[in-house]
Amino acid sequence: MAQSSDMDSRLHRTLRLISGVAAHLTAAAFTIYISWVAQPGTTLFSWHPFLMSLAFSFFMTEAILVFSPDSSLMRSFSRKARVRAHWILQLLCALCASLGLGIIYYNKSVHGKPHFSTWHGLLGLLTVLWALVQNAGGVTLLYPKLVQRWTLSTRKLYHATSGLLGFLLGCTSLFLGMCSLWFSANVTGGSWYLLALCPLLAGLVVMNQVSNAYLYRKRSQS
Ligand code: HEM
Repeated sequence: MAQSSDMDSRLHRTLRLISGVAAHLTAAAFTIYISWVAQPGTTLFSWHPFLMSLAFSFFMTEAILVFSPDSSLMRSFSRKARVRAHWILQLLCALCASLGLGIIYYNKSVHGKPHFSTWHGLLGLLTVLWALVQNAGGVTLLYPKLVQRWTLSTRKLYHATSGLLGFLLGCTSLFLGMCSLWFSANVTGGSWYLLALCPLLAGLVVMNQVSNAYLYRKRSQS
């Protein structure tokens, strides 16, 4: 009996490791593929998909995976070093996302097109605003004396929960970007479907990581 539960937990750990490695690979592969399709620098628009995939597929995924007990690239580093890597990556994400939003907004204005007129545009705007507010929330965890309301552990739980929601919003915005006329004219067939799996996989891995670290643990403690 004890042997079979030992095997179960080893199998579970191996599966979590494999899915974590897959999340790292797809985060990078998605960004590289989108950059290859968009060819950043060829037009003003081309910067938008490049910066957004860099922000949400690469920086934000890596910023969260840094805390993964199974697949973090910084597993041997101290908690303090991981926290530093997390906020630097999230800051880079916020910078790229703001720039990507500014560029698409300006590009649409230049071409006289209406703003936020698609689901991708609307959800994308919400995603960027969410990421900015989330970063501000993160600053209050770095400097706990800034906010006196709620205990630090409660605020960490809120940060993790709203961070997870923000990440899922990012995955959905990436997916909706892939449904845009521009993208579906450039990428079709099997490649499109393979690429669509990337945000889905990242979303599942991060959801599993955050719920294991915070939500289930907090519930079992109460
Ligand atoms: C999470 C990542 C992304 C966010 C937050 C985001 C955000 C936005 C926003 C807010 C707009 C509307 C701007 C306006 O109406 O003034 C927009 C437009 C656009 N985006 Fe993205 N985007 C993301 C990723 C992508 C990706 C990966 C692609 C391509 C594969 C893409 C393609 C487009 C296109 C073609 C438009 C113009 C058409 C439209 O308004 O829907 N976006 N994006």
